[in-house]
Amino acid sequence: MKNLFLVTAFACLSILQANANEQKIIRISTDNTDLILQVAENGRLYQSYLGEKLLHENDLKNLPWDIHAGSDGSVTRRGWEVYSGSGNEEYFEPAIALTHNDGNPSTYLYYVSSSTQAVEGGTQTTINLRDDKYPVDVTLYYVAYPKENVIKTWSEIKHQEKKPVILSKYASTMLYFNRTKYYLTEFSSDWAKEMQMSSQQLQPGKKILDTKLGSRAAMHIQPFFEIGLDQPVNEHQGEVIMGTIGWTGNFRFTFEVDNVGNLRIIPAINPYASAYELKPDEVFTTPEFIFTLSNEGTGSGSRNLHEWARNYQLKDGKGNRLTLLNNWENTGFNFNQEILADLMTEAKHLGVDMFLLDDGWFGNKYPRKDDHAGLGDWEVTHDKLPGGIKALTDAAKEAGVKFGIWIEPEMVNPKSELFEKHPDWAIHYPNREMYFYRNQLVLDLSNPKVQDYVYQVVDNILSENPEVAYFKWDCNSPITNIYSPYLKDKQGNLYIDHVRGVYNVMKRVKENYPNVPMMLCSGGGARCDYEALKYFTEFWCSDNTDPVERIFIQWGFSQFFPSKAMCAHVTSWNRNTSIKFRTDVASMCKLGFDIGLKELSQDELKYCQDAVANWKKFQSAIMEGTQYRLVSPYESNHMAVNYVSKDKKQAILFAYDIHPRYQEKLMAVKIQGLDPNAMYKVEEINLMPNTNASLRNNGKIFSGDYLMKVGLDVFGFGQTQSHVISIIAQ
Ligand code: GLA
Repeated sequence: MKNLFLVTAFACLSILQANANEQKIIRISTDNTDLILQVAENGRLYQSYLGEKLLHENDLKNLPWDIHAGSDGSVTRRGWEVYSGSGNEEYFEPAIALTHNDGNPSTYLYYVSSSTQAVEGGTQTTINLRDDKYPVDVTLYYVAYPKENVIKTWSEIKHQEKKPVILSKYASTMLYFNRTKYYLTEFSSDWAKEMQMSSQQLQPGKKILDTKLGSRAAMHIQPFFEIGLDQPVNEHQGEVIMGTIGWTGNFRFTFEVDNVGNLRIIPAINPYASAYELKPDEVFTTPEFIFTLSNEGTGSGSRNLHEWARNYQLKDGKGNRLTLLNNWENTGFNFNQEILADLMTEAKHLGVDMFLLDDGWFGNKYPRKDDHAGLGDWEVTHDKLPGGIKALTDAAKEAGVKFGIWIEPEMVNPKSELFEKHPDWAIHYPNREMYFYRNQLVLDLSNPKVQDYVYQVVDNILSENPEVAYFKWDCNSPITNIYSPYLKDKQGNLYIDHVRGVYNVMKRVKENYPNVPMMLCSGGGARCDYEALKYFTEFWCSDNTDPVERIFIQWGFSQFFPSKAMCAHVTSWNRNTSIKFRTDVASMCKLGFDIGLKELSQDELKYCQDAVANWKKFQSAIMEGTQYRLVSPYESNHMAVNYVSKDKKQAILFAYDIHPRYQEKLMAVKIQGLDPNAMYKVEEINLMPNTNASLRNNGKIFSGDYLMKVGLDVFGFGQTQSHVISIIAQ
């Protein structure tokens, strides 16, 4: 009885509050975009607009929040509810679904209050919603970054029911569009085949992009999408929304076109096998959904995201990056102290900043000779590296380069001392035969003890060897044998709590070692979301370093990431292509090498040394500047991209002939982003020794206007040829 009274009183209070706020309009805006939300007469919150920024505040109240109502013509309550609950009068996919203590599965959320506050780079809007019948609260967060034209949004769910509730849907947000047509571009992936772009028109019904890999989370689908509004996605024109979810685990994007042709976009953690038990007062925070709306195609949308990521999201987003020599493609597991010391000298000779030691340096009882054993035992293999990490950092110091090291701390090989000691730390079924991905198991990061252990992998290395300057943090397996010995009868929490455990570790590493740069790697590029990248300075795009394939992979990643986040190495993949072509492709991103330099001829080595020096010279354009994708490899047999420094004094053009057809029509490449009134000297760089520039008018001076309107003839008919052009203001 007392309870009933409380619930009724609570409900009345909510409705009263909602009525008091009737018609309240909440405006979330950047310099170019408005997202307008409105409290309707029923006290619930609806989206009344998402699009190009509106000029007059007065117009906001006229926005038709409820004309999206039923196709029978009646004005029903069916509008675009901002965080639609399950079991209401809305017939399409909801944002939230939970089962209350009494078994009732419905949720109706009413507006309670909202506020705004300034945060780094923008304004945060916080909106509180509450169910009128159950003590369930949802808080919606939106951070709008005006200059970069990016909005980041997430939600929090909590309750004060007596016992845990079961959450079965928990979207980050919901967005709606009312357009004639919607064209989705998605980014499918696999090992060595990351970020393959494909497009389709969305038809009535749902299109879902999701993964259920647990860890190595984006191996099959990357957490990014683009939707062309009214027309297919285009690089240079048209309206497009570009979105990504910051979640290093199972995600799901739902795109639903309803009966009247409206589109709803629901970014969320994938609820697959994840009916989440949420305790009273525990806060369930959804991942951040980050999006930009561009009126000038994906080129401008990408530039928004690049700028935003460098300014606010990426670890050390404004700092420099280290060029490096890695040993994985060169030595694999076969190295010793002398070989490594030799490579450090080579790194110095090449002109890069760092030597990066890859897999194979640890394990004693079960040495890591190949990928069958040793993961989990993070102690140097004594007979392979008798001087330990200390001898390696000493050797690096002597050679004059920094030293970085590979780890894969979230994993364990069953053949390891760690597994012998703590079999219950690995995710696996208690009663079934195990199956493996790359001979390993995933450690159960939902368990705080395991989190401590994983943190200590990094902490031990760094506290014993403060000279270690860099980590490559790998994650080669999806979650297999999906059962947490720690969570016992709460297996629905595993996929989610595991990811939160990973973040707890990453957070601790960043807090205690804020200045150590780190590469995020996952059997190539299967982990590169914007949440993980709060803790990592960069990521490995792909094990596929064939330059032809890399052109496509990097083109894909560049849609969402600035080049300073994307690691690209020159290797021996596709030896049919020249070292110049391979290096010119890697030079578009954060440059590194992973090749035996002794394999190279004198000329090739000299070429690489020059290319490293040139890359460093153009860092302010490539790493900090603005990127313009000029010619798509998906639409031609070529590719071109240029970067311009912020002050427009320095630019660099990369142009590639992939597989041109015989006598095909070659077009001049029009540079973008220059100062039309400045004069620029144009010169081909990255030339093999003793070869002449093939650029017509090499060394000549042109106006920015000319270069942008007439362009340069940089394409040719050769197979896998490249040209790098320096463009310097005079
Ligand atoms: C993954 C990475 C590679 C390399 C190996 C080592 O596949 O993507 O770059 O580090 O692991 O085992």
